[in-house]
Amino acid sequence: MGDRNMSGECSLQFDPIKSLLAELHAEAYRDRFRFISLLPRLLSGFLRGKDFSEIMTPASMKECYIPVSREQGELLYLTARTLNAKNVVEFGTSFGISTIYLAAGVRDNGGGIVIGSEIEPSKHTRAERNLHRAGLAEYADIRLGDALETLKNLPQPIDLVLLDGWKDLYMPVIELLKPNLRKGSVVFADNIFTFRKSLRPYVDYVQSGQNGFVSTTLHVADGFEYSVYTG
Ligand SMILES: C[S@@+](CC[C@H](N)C(=O)[O-])C[C@H]1O[C@@H](n2cnc3c(N)ncnc32)[C@H](O)[C@@H]1O
Repeated sequence: MGDRNMSGECSLQFDPIKSLLAELHAEAYRDRFRFISLLPRLLSGFLRGKDFSEIMTPASMKECYIPVSREQGELLYLTARTLNAKNVVEFGTSFGISTIYLAAGVRDNGGGIVIGSEIEPSKHTRAERNLHRAGLAEYADIRLGDALETLKNLPQPIDLVLLDGWKDLYMPVIELLKPNLRKGSVVFADNIFTFRKSLRPYVDYVQSGQNGFVSTTLHVADGFEYSVYTG
């Protein structure tokens, strides 16, 4: 392919990926007011002892981007390059911003696949369109449906994982993926500080030193757990 970037350069720096990411991050920034308007509902639900996923269904948030930040996206890209990742798995794709960073990394490594997951059909459609616009469609397989079903039976070994769907599912999703993780693979998990209580079991699991991970919470965005699978 003529536009394949195999020279050690970074395809994030070139169009169409560069301008598309600028456009999507700008839209997501404007969109934050929509998310902020949902906060009272979220807070009152929390005060009534409910969990995020009970209060906010994927359908009720189908217009919200809630993406990784640019800094997180670049860290995902660089980690994919560091690991020479070929097989990447993502829980929670939304409109595909994080998927674009990951798929760009896979492409710049010479090829591979990002298996994404999105339960909300309209978001799935928009994510596929965005990957197509980025010229990265052949490096992404975004699966529509519940990740606990769509991420079963994956090709092994997995080099890199992003957990960014609903927070009560981080534990079952990592348990599902763990048998396919290769030694030295990296698992990122987003929103550790915002959902401190819901994500406590996950953080304890990866930080305990007893479950095959070494892990630390990076002060990037609202807490980005960085875990290496040691086997
Ligand atoms: C925080 S957003 C993901 C943002 C995305 N990683 C990005 O950076 O653009 C979380 C997404 O997870 C999706 N989701 C929630 N529960 C899910 C499930 N069980 N399976 C698949 N996707 C799910 C939601 O619909 C939502 O779009």
